[in-house]
Amino acid sequence: MKFFIDTANLDQIREANALGVLDGVTTNPSLMAKEGITGQEAIMKHYKDICDIVDGDISAEVVSTTFDGIIEEGKKLAAIHPNIVVKVPMIKEGVKAMKWFTDNGIKTNCTLVFNAGQAILCAKAGAKYVSPFVGRIDDTGWDGIQLVEQIVHIYNIQGIKTQVLAASMRSPNHIIRCAEAGAHVVTSPLESILGLLKHPLTDIGLAKFLEDAKKLQ
Ligand code: E4P
Repeated sequence: MKFFIDTANLDQIREANALGVLDGVTTNPSLMAKEGITGQEAIMKHYKDICDIVDGDISAEVVSTTFDGIIEEGKKLAAIHPNIVVKVPMIKEGVKAMKWFTDNGIKTNCTLVFNAGQAILCAKAGAKYVSPFVGRIDDTGWDGIQLVEQIVHIYNIQGIKTQVLAASMRSPNHIIRCAEAGAHVVTSPLESILGLLKHPLTDIGLAKFLEDAKKLQ
């Protein structure tokens, strides 16, 4: 399973990348706004900066909702760096645009996916990634992990190559559950990635080992 970080914060991307286990980055307009990035030039430069830090797929989301607008925006994003993946919302114009991008050699990540039907459509359009939003589904009282399992199952039995990129992670446990469900990629905030490191018995055990190591000197 690949590990992506879900942020536009360059310091957090550097910190996760320094762990040596990072495979890519996902961003969205809300995450970009959180970093105070404004204006087309600054947005493009920010994506370039991310590509310079991480050697892996970097999702950059379009904000247009018409076919022509998505194509125009996506072409500009894809021209920033070969690792850019154009993130396209699961709307009718988005499906058409993803098919166009596929036919023209541009990688896509279909975002805002909340059911299996949407996942089937984005696979038909040739998306490289489908992003089911696990946490947001859980927030509504439904089971986001169940959706990941269902999409993985459908893709497996249909021989579909689109990769399931489990998004909207809320905890380290979400990451573990998505790994169990067969997700090809998980994208999480830095906090959840670092949360995987933690166990109180590790801390207690290390303190004891270090204390006893002093006796060896
Ligand atoms: C996916 O690519 C999105 O950027 C992200 O995972 C959404 O997460 P949220 O529900 O925490 O905003």
